[in-house]
Parts: sequence; structure tokens; C-alpha cells
Amino acid sequence: MLNVAVLVSGGGTNLQAIIDAIKAGSITNAQIKVVISNNKDAYALERAKAAGIKELCISPKDFEDRAKFNEALIDAIDKENIDLIVLAGFLVVIPEAMVKKYKNRIINIHPSLIPSFCGKGYYGLKVHEAALARGVKVTGATVHFVDEGTDTGPIIYQKAVEIKEGDTPEVLQRRVMEEAEWKLLPQAIDALANGRVKLG
Ligand code: GRF
Repeated sequence: MLNVAVLVSGGGTNLQAIIDAIKAGSITNAQIKVVISNNKDAYALERAKAAGIKELCISPKDFEDRAKFNEALIDAIDKENIDLIVLAGFLVVIPEAMVKKYKNRIINIHPSLIPSFCGKGYYGLKVHEAALARGVKVTGATVHFVDEGTDTGPIIYQKAVEIKEGDTPEVLQRRVMEEAEWKLLPQAIDALANGRVKLG
């Protein structure tokens, strides 16, 4: 059984996709042990509560410095005996010590086809605004392992999504979530939990 920690900062629709996939049996051999957010108002925490999953708020604002926050975050994860950390819209920089300690056991979902529209400053709606500004006809989502860089780790899965005439960033974001993110993340977790993709 793969023990999973999901790190969130916002609405938690990707978290919900994982919760629903486990319930539906399209993810097997995995359980979400804890959901951690840096944002106490993140609706993702409500989703965890509603699903009976342990949820914690660990925010840099609650610590005297970033090193203390980093320590608290790593401790909270270590305590749960976690095999896989899933970044589902987590907007805080992952401590280097955590990337090292959980090498190839941290995955992230990014709302573009990496290496396009990724890296520092590309998150949430900004990604879709950049894709629309560039005029690409196809975008999508990528699930990848997290390494020391930003959106630079080995790619696990990608899924393309068509951009339509008149798309706004909000409409495009929703389509990328529905057609790509909410499918790729559960698929990746199931593949890691059942040995189709190598963990660690
Ligand atoms: C969304 O912008 C999504 O594209 C990206 O992070 C944000 C989180 O969305 N992965 P949610 O909190 O999972 O709804």
C-alpha cells in the first residue's frame, strides 16, 4: 500500500480527482495519509475533511524563518511514513532537503506541455495567459518527478488539449484541468503504486 501525502494551496480539484479515483478503484494500492496546505483557507482542506482524510496547515507565516518552516514540513511528512508526495497546486518552494530525501518520490502536475510555459513565475492562470498570448493551438498538462529545479524533473505523462477560438485563460484552465490534469495525476499515482512507473 503506497502512503501518499498531497500538498495543496488552493481549490483542491486535483486532490478531489485523486480522492474520487481511489474511491472508484481506478487508483489501487494507494491511500492518502495526509493533505498539507500552506494556506489555512484552501478549499482543498475542506475536501480532505469531507473525505475523512487527515489535513494540516503548515504555513511559512507561522514560523520565524523559512528554515523552521522547511523543518516542520519535512517532519510532518516523515511522521506519516510517506512513500509518495504529490504536489497538487502547491505554491510554496519545496525545501531542497525534502527533494533530496524524497528523490524520485515527489511528483507535480503542471498545466502545460513542459518545456513550454513552465519554470519560475509560470503557475495557475499565468500559464494559460502565456499560451494564449503565444498563440499556440495545442497545450495540455504534464505530470513529472520533482528535482532541484522548477518544473525540470523527468516527465512521467503528458496529455494534449486543444485551444479553441475565443478561449479565455479561465475557460482554457478549466478545459486543461478536466481533460488532462484530473486524468494524468490519478493515472500517475496508480502507475507508481503498481510498479508500472519506477518510484524512488
Ligand atoms: C491549478 O492552476 C492547476 O492547473 C495547477 O495548480 C492549480 C491547482 O488547482 N496544477 P487545484 O487546487 O487542484 O484546483
